[in-house]
Amino acid sequence: MSYVSNVTHSTEDWAQIENAFIVLGQFQDEPVSAQAYAINDLLNAALESGDFKGKTGENRTFYLDGKTIVVIGLGKKEQFDADASRKAAGQACRIAISRKVDQIAVECFGGETYSQALGEGIVLGSYQFLTYKTQKKDSFELNSVTVLGGNNENVQKGATIGSSVCFARDLGNHPGNTSTPTHLAHAAQSIAEEGNMSITIFERDEFTEMGMGGLAGVAQGTDEPPKFIILEYFGAEDKDEKPKVIVGKGLTFDAGGISIKPGAKMDEMKFDMCGSATVLGVMHAIASLKPKINVVMIVPSTENLLGAKAYKPGDILTAYNGKTIEVLNTDAEGRLILADGLSYASKHYDPEFILDFATLTGAILFALGHEATGVMGTNDALMDQVKSSSKNTDEKVWDFPLWPEYCKQIKSDIADVKNLGAPRQAGSIAAGAFLKEFVGKDIPWIHFDIAGTAWGGKPTSIDPKGSATGWGVRLVLDLLNA
Ligand code: BES
Ligand code: ZN
Ligand code: ZN
Repeated sequence: MSYVSNVTHSTEDWAQIENAFIVLGQFQDEPVSAQAYAINDLLNAALESGDFKGKTGENRTFYLDGKTIVVIGLGKKEQFDADASRKAAGQACRIAISRKVDQIAVECFGGETYSQALGEGIVLGSYQFLTYKTQKKDSFELNSVTVLGGNNENVQKGATIGSSVCFARDLGNHPGNTSTPTHLAHAAQSIAEEGNMSITIFERDEFTEMGMGGLAGVAQGTDEPPKFIILEYFGAEDKDEKPKVIVGKGLTFDAGGISIKPGAKMDEMKFDMCGSATVLGVMHAIASLKPKINVVMIVPSTENLLGAKAYKPGDILTAYNGKTIEVLNTDAEGRLILADGLSYASKHYDPEFILDFATLTGAILFALGHEATGVMGTNDALMDQVKSSSKNTDEKVWDFPLWPEYCKQIKSDIADVKNLGAPRQAGSIAAGAFLKEFVGKDIPWIHFDIAGTAWGGKPTSIDPKGSATGWGVRLVLDLLNA
């Protein structure tokens, strides 16, 4: 786990502070900012020469009075927003790391309004996954960032949220031989202790006995102990207030089972637990922020392997809500374990709403690439809230319809439902239509297919190359008003 944990605040002018490495911002086509007055001449000269314009992504370094001052381009002032502030802060940290500077001061770009986004960007930009690097030269870390100006409370909130996103990234980035269901259970345990939450973990024999045939079926192919993990946080003044339930797919390695996947990129299936990383990241933030809300997290977790007892195409499983499922492809396993997660949530919690997060279908990548998460659900008002939080946090979503025509496609001739839709058609919607069968009637529910967004996108200043992204932690915290 590596990200900056020491984020402090200063109201002093940058020229007065001790830091030797200072990062300031400059809008495009604007006069140099008040913060930058002592380097006005140098910066003006750079702007006048046309060598530096203040465009997004640009940066120049100046040396003055024994200090190194990096000026980052903030782009056009009228286009500047929270995401620009987040990314500029990330860029400041990436520059520091690339120059092996472990302490920096950063202006609160764009002013106080953007304090939270800036706090998030500082932590996200400083993130590196170094656990398996044994050589010192490969593992330089940024230790401390002083924010100049802005609202400290909001900067700190942003830093807390950022650290929870990093916590989710770490869970995703660990390989399958570390990030096992037991590892996820330990992560949940530490969150429970930190946040005064209650935790329940059902082991294989318990959840099998309870009737969770989806999880039990998928877990038949592995000796690695599967888990059904529940975290309960009742922080609202009214403990009877309906909880909001978040469910995450915790498939710690997906080989496809007997319907085995091709070898290319199979290693990436260590990321198939990123849905669980999202919901664990949310609970990690809740443990620190302690909002006055009731939230329950559910993670069904197993590997999908091909052991001698593995479930087979044609098998029929019975989910926790009693519905029977014809398994036509053992690689469509995420929906099977989520069937039990959603049924359990519906039966035991009388939820205000349920959100689920899953790297569910390769098809979502064909539809949306790595840019947006596919969402679908049963409640327009909740979908509007999701879209509004998506805008606030710049975690993009695009909604898909669950029309009856699609829902028919997962009906089975021999059981209640089957785990495949029509061949090569609307695969992500078919998966959503399947999940809908396991959500209690009248419970507002939205499914997030994060198979395109959980990893693999183009790297940015806040999303390093090859890393899990921790997608959704920010959006959900915004939605929960945490
Ligand atoms: N974990 C995969 C989905 C996935 C594939 C995520 C590629 C990211 C990249 C899921 O369990 C799966 O294998 N889904 C199948 C479903 C199919 C058999 C209906 C898929 O998408 O190919
Ligand atoms: Zn699969
Ligand atoms: Zn999977």
